Amino acid sequence: MKIIGALALAAMAATVSLPASAQFAKAEDAIKYRQGALTVLGSHFGRVGAMANGKAAFDAKSAQESAEIVAFMAKLPWAAFAAGTEGGKAKPEIWKEQAKFQDLAKKSEEATAKLAEASKSGNLDQIKAAFGPAANSCKSCHDAFRNR
Ligand code: HEC
Repeated sequence: MKIIGALALAAMAATVSLPASAQFAKAEDAIKYRQGALTVLGSHFGRVGAMANGKAAFDAKSAQESAEIVAFMAKLPWAAFAAGTEGGKAKPEIWKEQAKFQDLAKKSEEATAKLAEASKSGNLDQIKAAFGPAANSCKSCHDAFRNR
């Protein structure tokens, strides 16, 4: 148990101290990682969206579960856009405008955190109110930095 704890700590320390690019052996791995994270994010965001838009029956528990997954997953993709990981559907501008990209990422993290917070209320109107800004946070980055 102690050893596992120490290993886990060492792994965490490594994650924190290494530059993001060093976490992935190849650019391809970083692309797969961020696309995987974004796919899971998108799937759960879609489930909340269907309820917010009245296309699916509202289920407070599953809305909350999905919103919390979204908020968590929204923290993950950005480190996988490190230098040298150009590709996928990511526009090359990301690597020229890192500050703007990371700022949009941060805003999306905040908007999805608010959605998760709203989902705890079990109140569909509050979820609807938080869903719009969260969806806009995705769109503003996709418009600027994603190829369709
Ligand atoms: C800071 C920029 C940014 C934000 C914010 C952002 N995305 Fe994206 N998203 C991207 C980029 C860039 C790609 C393309 C990644 C690639 O192909 O390497 C992408 C790809 C995706 C994909 C496709 C993944 C695949 O396998 O091709 C989905 C789904 C997605 N985003 C959903 C979302 C949702 C939902 C949100 C908001 C909750 C969001 N994104 C917020 C930049 C962003």
